[in-house]
Amino acid sequence: MRLENDYCSISVDSSGALLHRRGYRLATAKAPLRETLAAGMLLVSGWDTASPLLDPFCGSGTIPIEAALLAKKYPARPKSAIRFYELAQFRRHGVERLVARSGGNSPLPSPLIIASDRDAGAIRAAQANAERAGVSEGIEFSRRALSAIEPPACPGWVVTNPPYGTRLTHQKDLRNLYAQMGNVFRARCAGWRLAVLCTRPYFLRNTGLEFEEEVSLMNGGLKVRLFMEGFRRFVTPGQALSSGADLLPDVIAVRKSESQNLMNS
Ligand SMILES: C[S@@+](CC[C@H](N)C(=O)[O-])C[C@H]1O[C@@H](n2cnc3c(N)ncnc32)[C@H](O)[C@@H]1O
Repeated sequence: MRLENDYCSISVDSSGALLHRRGYRLATAKAPLRETLAAGMLLVSGWDTASPLLDPFCGSGTIPIEAALLAKKYPARPKSAIRFYELAQFRRHGVERLVARSGGNSPLPSPLIIASDRDAGAIRAAQANAERAGVSEGIEFSRRALSAIEPPACPGWVVTNPPYGTRLTHQKDLRNLYAQMGNVFRARCAGWRLAVLCTRPYFLRNTGLEFEEEVSLMNGGLKVRLFMEGFRRFVTPGQALSSGADLLPDVIAVRKSESQNLMNS
């Protein structure tokens, strides 16, 4: 209730907490992503929810957990946490019909979702978060360095958020890590599509990979960029973007030439 200049406004909170607070991520590791940004990365990457999905820098597990929720078509938040379900005028049958029509009750694929990180604490946090989200059985977690990943032969999507520089990390170490990332992806992820979130595009030059597309996204008010490779053969840029753009109004596609300029900036 708000009283201002003899006017009284009564507002009803119909949705509860902010949508990016899904409620599962009580345990965090270094630099966790917003849950909505992780979901947006998956949508923009064009991941088909059936092919393997790999995040070799999973931290607290946000990307693999959002992937498992997406594949299972689980709602971002349990019904019990959505306030408008309790309003007297709420038409439950109408909403349930919509959910059924969206395929919510049909059998769903169980994709292989592989998540790893070299940090044991991060893996413990990711497992606890996945448990809370109800998707721990759908994700293969392991503690391992990037150099030790073993992706399956059947190609899928790498969607990941490598370290991109904090006061904890030295620039030289990061350049070496990105160079290693290029070598590992080339040697073990042939045919995979790649989507890498980065705020500092110049690090990506060390990978030696040629990224075909770039999409700008916002992370808590900060601009971040998702670089993608290997999509041209499978998903046209328009298709890849339209699915995510519905949910992410601030998605901007940048042509390859512009993307190259940005990588040099
Ligand atoms: C930016 S964080 C990822 C955050 C994650 N997306 C989340 O939402 O929590 C980067 C992660 O990379 C991990 N990492 C750094 N170097 C690595 C390496 N060589 N191999 C595997 N993981 C590494 C760190 O432990 C950290 O958890």
